Amino acid sequence: MSVSHVLAPHAPLFAGIESAAPDALLALIGLHAADPRSGKIDVGVGVYRDEAGATPVLAAVKAAEHQLLEQQTSKSYLGPEGDVQFTRLLADILFGTEFARAPGLVGLQTPGGTGALRVAAELLAQAGAGRQVWVGLPTWANHIPLLAAAGLRVREHRFFDGIRSDLDFDGMIAALSEAQAGDILLLHGCCHNPTGISFSHDQWKQLAGLCVSRSLFPLIDIAYQGLGDGLREDAVGMRLFLEHVPEALIAYSCDKNFGLYRERVGALWAWTRSREVGGRVMSQLCALARVNWSMPPDHGAALVRLILSDDALRASWMSELEAMRQRIAALRVHLGSSHPKLAPIARQKGMFAMLPILPDAVAALRQEHAIYMASNGRINVAGLSESSIDRFCDAIRSYLSDGQSA
Ligand SMILES: Cc1ncc(COP(=O)(O)O)c(C=O)c1O
Repeated sequence: MSVSHVLAPHAPLFAGIESAAPDALLALIGLHAADPRSGKIDVGVGVYRDEAGATPVLAAVKAAEHQLLEQQTSKSYLGPEGDVQFTRLLADILFGTEFARAPGLVGLQTPGGTGALRVAAELLAQAGAGRQVWVGLPTWANHIPLLAAAGLRVREHRFFDGIRSDLDFDGMIAALSEAQAGDILLLHGCCHNPTGISFSHDQWKQLAGLCVSRSLFPLIDIAYQGLGDGLREDAVGMRLFLEHVPEALIAYSCDKNFGLYRERVGALWAWTRSREVGGRVMSQLCALARVNWSMPPDHGAALVRLILSDDALRASWMSELEAMRQRIAALRVHLGSSHPKLAPIARQKGMFAMLPILPDAVAALRQEHAIYMASNGRINVAGLSESSIDRFCDAIRSYLSDGQSA
């Protein structure tokens, strides 16, 4: 190789890079912040808000932070599996103590539910080239890009009936008749984002039957445990499901139910057939964690560990979570009773709901009423308050459509 070749001028690498598509929700935050009108309503951003519109640090978290400050003696590395005690205590909350001790269940701490999903998707992509993952629409905006970025082929399937604003379970099962053995099925564990759907126990059992009879691999994403019907209630369906399927991956976020968002707290479990298989899967999960983030951030998981291992802190957290859940449930009942087209919202669960509303109406609500929501009509119910909800209901009434058949 000649020197002149090595030194040959190249076009600057960055010059060829195009801008990524702007994030619509981040753009909405900017528009809302710049709006000078008083009484503006933000139901766009997906964080819990209290009656005053704040997203406070939970008292249990503050108390755990004090404890951590006093007690922590080292910040040395923990390892790619993160805080093992955190994952164990959290498994009890999610799976129940009996199930959590199953020899084939293995888990590791991850940076948020997003980190859990990313490692899960990479493991699945590695396990079988060309696997497809079935995703019901609509879904959390990051699901499809994340799964595709990990190398999985995404197939969209029917899930929600926009005319009835409710789950189309029969349509979902019919669409999944095209799934091939070995395909992956993404399921939301409870409080679906953005529709608020939680499967009934019977539906979970039917889904388990489908996965077994068609050899589909379940990937469960659970990011809102405790914000629907209660901590145990929100997990029972998924536990029933797991009793019937031989294998699954379960991605979990503590960022909503502990209010830890920016601390990035989550976990990933593999439900495997035996201790021996679990050990091998766990070694691969740790290897994937190692090449992604090496080790997960400690602070938030340490707080969750302290809260779950101390009776008083645990009771404080559970009552704060229950207060969040009840506030959301009351707002749902209020919304549901304000118009027949919104009635399903009262039955649906968790922070999010889909309004039967067209994108033009979303823009008009922003311009004329200072109401900010995602263009597909998704609202964060917790963005409302007893003082704003009537104005919100009055403003949206004339824009409610007959729904979209998506
Ligand atoms: C369904 C769903 N899964 C996963 C996540 C990611 O959670 P985290 O913020 O912990 O990464 C979210 C966040 O909004 C979500 O709605």
